[in-house]
Amino acid sequence: MPVVLDGKKVRDAILASLEPRIRKLKAKGRAPGLAVVLAGNNAASEIYVRSKIKACEDLGIYSEKHLPLDTVDTEEMLFLIQSLNQRPDIDGILVQLPLPPQVNTQRVLMAVAAEKDVDGFHPMNVGHLVAGRDGLRACTPSGVMEILAHYRIPVSGKHAVVIGRSDIVGKPMALLLLHANATVTICHSKTANVAEECRRADIVVAAMGKPGFVTPDFVSPRSVVIDVGTSHLTDPAVAAALFANAPEKMDSFREKGKAVVGDVHPDVYPRCAAYTPVPGGVGPLTIAMLMSNTVLAAERRLQAYQLN
Ligand code: GUN
Repeated sequence: MPVVLDGKKVRDAILASLEPRIRKLKAKGRAPGLAVVLAGNNAASEIYVRSKIKACEDLGIYSEKHLPLDTVDTEEMLFLIQSLNQRPDIDGILVQLPLPPQVNTQRVLMAVAAEKDVDGFHPMNVGHLVAGRDGLRACTPSGVMEILAHYRIPVSGKHAVVIGRSDIVGKPMALLLLHANATVTICHSKTANVAEECRRADIVVAAMGKPGFVTPDFVSPRSVVIDVGTSHLTDPAVAAALFANAPEKMDSFREKGKAVVGDVHPDVYPRCAAYTPVPGGVGPLTIAMLMSNTVLAAERRLQAYQLN
């Protein structure tokens, strides 16, 4: 039987470990503070932002929401970011993506002070990651490393395949695995034979956003399969293909008319050594790592302040 890698358990352990650190910061003067910027009206982003704010409330992290209109331009966004950069009570700034199309996303992300960049998207933090130096790391890939560590899955000397080369997940994921001494292959849309590359791997991380792309021919009985995909499925034909051998999931889809699915086909599960389910695998870790980065940013800022 494969091991189900339960992201909620790992999340709970991480959040519990943050509590004494937050208490200590409060005892020294104030709670960590996170500013979340959500521009325009994107239904999915609104749900994510609500969860992030709720996580802050549950932990005792101060948070505030900024909601520029759909018509916001780059200059207005830059002005907002500059004002947050200067606020002593704000340790972390998160700009929820995607931004409205008229906004220059790169300029906005570059404007976030690197020490407050809790998403790890600033080129300075990306550079620190490439060089293997301390910095704020992208949340989802860091969460994957936490799952591997929690379940004591060996990484050093193992062969890891990352499918997907996005700046948010694929590239930082490959670098984190490399720094943990894995031999890393990155597959993408132009890779000749992704299944063959994956079959040779000990660890497969699927992060390209294609429901059910990873099928049983991608894995071996020793594969650890990490599914970063989160797609909102409404097409009954796709649901029927994905859930042919998962009648309870098909029943739920029929009832609700929708399902959240990953990049890994459920038929993979009985054929591998361990896997993260969707939902309940990698997803819960993203917010936990955001909280972790916010606490880390607050600790570092406090330390820098005390040294000055
Ligand atoms: N949109 C989708 N994923 C993310 C993320 O991890 N961070 C931000 N800021 N926006 C996102």
